[in-house]
Amino acid sequence: MRMRNLGLLAAVALVLSARPARAALDAPHDQTFSQADCTQCHELYQTTPAGDKDFSYGCVTCHNSPENRVRTSLGFPWDPNGNQAVPGVVGNQHSWTGYAENARYGAQTPANSKIASKLLRSRLQCATCHDIHASSQTFSPGSRHTSFTLGEEKTSGTSKMILVDVADGNPRGWRVKLQAGNTFIISHNAGVTPATWLNYVNNAWVPGVDGGQGKGFTIGQNVGLDPDPLATVKFTAATPGDTFDFYVSYPHLRTSNVADALCTQCHADRVMNHVKGSGKDPNYPPDGSRVFSHPVNVALDANGAGYDRPLTAVLDADGGLQPVKVNGVPVNVGDGRTANDLKFDAGVVRCTTCHAVHNGASNSLTN
Ligand code: HEC
Ligand code: HEC
Ligand code: HEC
Ligand code: HEC
Ligand code: HEC
Repeated sequence: MRMRNLGLLAAVALVLSARPARAALDAPHDQTFSQADCTQCHELYQTTPAGDKDFSYGCVTCHNSPENRVRTSLGFPWDPNGNQAVPGVVGNQHSWTGYAENARYGAQTPANSKIASKLLRSRLQCATCHDIHASSQTFSPGSRHTSFTLGEEKTSGTSKMILVDVADGNPRGWRVKLQAGNTFIISHNAGVTPATWLNYVNNAWVPGVDGGQGKGFTIGQNVGLDPDPLATVKFTAATPGDTFDFYVSYPHLRTSNVADALCTQCHADRVMNHVKGSGKDPNYPPDGSRVFSHPVNVALDANGAGYDRPLTAVLDADGGLQPVKVNGVPVNVGDGRTANDLKFDAGVVRCTTCHAVHNGASNSLTN
């Protein structure tokens, strides 16, 4: 599929009609950061030659737009002809148009029907892996995004705010509006007109009005926004009328990717430990056609051969244990790029130790 985004509008067909209402649309696609207009995604599809609706074009249109570049690390741009991975050729994002059944790359149709049902006659789309209507933190623990970097001072007008911390909880977006007398009000649907404002009455947030009673704060001191999740902020300068917009979210996965469970839906053939991977599994001996892959789901030095070393107590940038070279020097330091750091999962090697599904640091030609 080599269509470019310019062809998109011409190819849009059909109007979203009588679609049963579905409550969930999580931040940032909900009304906190956009109008949460159903048509933004449901009309922005392209019809495949076989007549299926490919929703990736809607995703890519927004996700290519510099205006939406709140955080570059989310992987913009997504050009199908340059960013989409063709193994050994090009790309820094997992394929989103390939055939799931692909012997060359050891991929097969996923067993999970929730994933399989979003294939387009066996082809991938963004929605195969992503369920935009839900964003479960349990599907990808450790992958929470806050649109403001924790601890960084942000400026709006002449006001300054630091997002100090966010407790674990549901995805959510906020607009924080400063008012007179060092008070603020909040909204969770700032993308709509008129937005619903919450006022702070008797120590609780209740639906209210713009200009209504706000929550008091002291310059330079932490103050909580609202629970689930509880976000803690600190204003270091405050001018009434200034607003701050930010969100907390998870990558909207369709099923759990704990221990790479999503990856192995389609890549089960590559799941082997060091015994099988080295051809020593009596049930899977080399026969000239079987293929073998790098071991996964095992810790370093699991085979006891001494050519890889257990992780050391030296912590990497994320606070995780570090892999070290044979000379004891940590691997993940030196070039300042986190994208090419090896990521261990509680000390165990997974596919995602070496592969990033998005924003990869290389393809197999360049590295
Ligand atoms: C950010 C993009 C996006 C927005 C905004 C969006 N949807 Fe969806 N929606 C999708 C995608 C992608 C799918 C999966 C497509 C498929 O079913 O093949 C989907 C699926 C659905 C389904 C099918 C049921 C399901 O669980 O898959 C319903 C119903 C639906 N959307 C309703 C809505 C309504 C109502 C709105 C507006 C409140 C809305 N959507 C807004 C992207 C979006
Ligand atoms: C109307 C514009 C729009 C459309 C359409 C859209 N997105 Fe997004 N999406 C955004 C914005 C804006 C963000 C936040 C980006 C940022 O913080 O830099 C985002 C963030 C995300 C995130 C990361 C959430 C997080 O922070 O963890 C995922 C995953 C995502 N989008 C997937 C999709 C998929 C899949 C589709 C198509 C079904 C889609 N988006 C369609 C605007 C859009
Ligand atoms: C093969 C499965 C798969 C496909 C196809 C896929 N994604 Fe993802 N995506 C993931 C996984 C897994 C993550 C979570 C990575 C993590 O845990 O941090 C993710 C994360 C993201 C994020 C959050 C940023 C990040 O780097 O973590 C965005 C935005 C996103 N995807 C958008 C898209 C869009 C847009 C498409 C289609 C053009 C797409 N994805 C296709 C699996 C997929
Ligand atoms: C829905 C099925 C599916 C899922 C889920 C999936 N893959 Fe893939 N993957 C494929 C297919 C199909 C290809 C071959 C694409 C092509 O034809 O170019 C592929 C290719 C790859 C490649 C080769 C280069 C590239 O980036 O395209 C890597 C590496 C890879 N997948 C890793 C992963 C990881 C890591 C995960 C989990 C985050 C994952 N895959 C989840 C189907 C899937
Ligand atoms: C120790 C690091 C490492 C681990 C672990 C790993 N890979 Fe890879 N993988 C690589 C490298 C490096 C390449 C590029 C090889 C090349 O181009 O010759 C690659 C290539 C690939 C390719 C495409 C190239 C091809 O022709 O096969 C796929 C698909 C892939 N890996 C999937 C996976 C999956 C799925 C897992 C987990 C079951 C996994 N990998 C685990 C390092 C790793």
